[in-house]
Amino acid sequence: MCGIIGYIGTKKAAPILINGLLRLEYRGYDSAGIATIEKNGLSVMKDKGRVKNLYNLDGIDDLEGTIGIAHTRWATHGKPSKENAHPHLDNSNSFAVVHNGIIENYNDLRNFLVKNGYTFRSQTDTEVIPNLIHYYYSKDKVDDKNKVLRAVQHACKDLKGSFAIQVITKYLPDNLIVVRKDSPLVIGKGDGENYISSDIPAILSFTKDFYLLDNYEIAVLSRDQVVFYDFDLNKINKKVTSIDWNATSADKDGYEDYMLKEIYEQPNAIRETIGSRIPENEPCNFEDLSFTKEFLFSINKIYIVACGTAMHAGLSGKCAIEHLCNIPVIVDVASEFRYRNPIIDKNTLCIYLSQSGETADTIAALKLAKSKGATTLAISNVIGSSITREADYSIFTHAGPEIAVASTKAYTSQVVLLNILAIYFAEVLGSAPVEEIKDLKNEILALPEKIESALKTSSQMKEYAKSIYQEKDMFFLGRGIDYNTALEGSLKLKEISYIHSEAYAAGELKHGPIALIESGITVISILTDEKLVEKTISNIQEVITRGAKTLVITNKELPSNNIDVIINVPDTCTLLSPILSIVPLQLLAYYISKEKGLDVDKPRNLAKSVTVE
Ligand code: AGP
Repeated sequence: MCGIIGYIGTKKAAPILINGLLRLEYRGYDSAGIATIEKNGLSVMKDKGRVKNLYNLDGIDDLEGTIGIAHTRWATHGKPSKENAHPHLDNSNSFAVVHNGIIENYNDLRNFLVKNGYTFRSQTDTEVIPNLIHYYYSKDKVDDKNKVLRAVQHACKDLKGSFAIQVITKYLPDNLIVVRKDSPLVIGKGDGENYISSDIPAILSFTKDFYLLDNYEIAVLSRDQVVFYDFDLNKINKKVTSIDWNATSADKDGYEDYMLKEIYEQPNAIRETIGSRIPENEPCNFEDLSFTKEFLFSINKIYIVACGTAMHAGLSGKCAIEHLCNIPVIVDVASEFRYRNPIIDKNTLCIYLSQSGETADTIAALKLAKSKGATTLAISNVIGSSITREADYSIFTHAGPEIAVASTKAYTSQVVLLNILAIYFAEVLGSAPVEEIKDLKNEILALPEKIESALKTSSQMKEYAKSIYQEKDMFFLGRGIDYNTALEGSLKLKEISYIHSEAYAAGELKHGPIALIESGITVISILTDEKLVEKTISNIQEVITRGAKTLVITNKELPSNNIDVIINVPDTCTLLSPILSIVPLQLLAYYISKEKGLDVDKPRNLAKSVTVE
């Protein structure tokens, strides 16, 4: 959940670190800090609040060090405060550490260190790490060049939980050490300099060449090289992965907020997702997927497992796979799946959806399925992300970096990719009519232009936002595939406007929730599924009768029927309609948040990548 940045080179580290932190702020933003190796030893500067506060710290401009580590925090242990901000030092001020993750046994380790004379300045779990490193360093009687490395290794072997850590020390003034277990960390390879980051976009403007650290790997960085070790300190080789993302795509490009930029990037993101996967007059093509025909025929059940918005995309994936392939699909929330005993065997395909590829619950759910013999497929937006390294197979949405905490383009590109995947399965299985598949492919190819049209609802949504931004509660209704859009529209609203909202399957309304409908309450309905339109209209009439204000998103010609506002989106086939009907709802959430003067990109209490349980 936190973001970490490191630099080792010949330039002043501090500005590079702060700049990197600003790009990582979506991962956590309650406090921030940097540590550099200066001529007179380690310097640590940190403060509560946003990264930009670091610019105001006394002496920050005087830092000359060319090696440094930095951190932006999302509190887990200990409230947001200067003391709890990273980097943390050991008692002798010899080792500075930043950490992303959670140390589950920190209480035991703290008690052990206290018994050995150590004291603590913060309430964090992290502070045990520099002190443990110091403990092992001072116990080691062999004084060779690997003494610090051994101390770091011993300390990390004591840690339970998840960690990506960076260590600098006065004992190794020309090195920086990093270790990773279940928390993301990449190393950017430069010329005479190297970078460290929690994710690729933050350092994309410096390099496109990355080493992707795996679990239980340690790297010792110097200016000219990176030496890798396994957890037993055997040297290992790692390949460089080149990333073809454009650095400017991680910037705001003139938009007021990343979220708005990402909403408007959807046409292009979807073009990239489609890529060459739908060749003319040929079956869909997944070069990166080597499923055998026999395996596809053997699948008896598919699980789609994810969290939040990705789970909502999974619900639309279920509609596509069940309809086209006639294989039952269960969509599950990763945090639930990982703690139940899912019925899985070698004929089960488990699909894990994760924009970041770093969501702890989704990764744990994948590992569980693997241990039970299922075949696992990860769908992520981030090449080299943890989940794609765990899965048997991986495919990518290629939507480009998504920075805003509220997911938009990652969601629509996931729905597109799941539809193409369903077609690919159906073409192998021969399970869907050729004409239907042909129409669906044409509709997918037409999506980028149709999203451009859906984006034209922007001014209507902005106006509508002005009329409802002060509301306290709202309802979202939909039937069939439109229920998925209701869920996602409601989540977007909650996340960035802090307005309470509930999404219901429209037919469920009369089984309880209708008791909450009273005069003046806003009810937003989605209506795109031809065969269910009339049913949902009846439900809308039920709320109108009880005094609700209504907004309807539809791709059908509807009689006004006393509905207050009707927003039209382009027509498409039912399976793809969530990709278009969500657009006005993303814009609505955005404009309500702006009307309320909130921080759209960094909503309170949330973080972009939920890398802890
Ligand atoms: C989306 O707006 C949310 N911020 C959140 O629900 C997100 O989709 C979820 O945490 C899963 O993230 P992932 O796709 O990176 O795994």
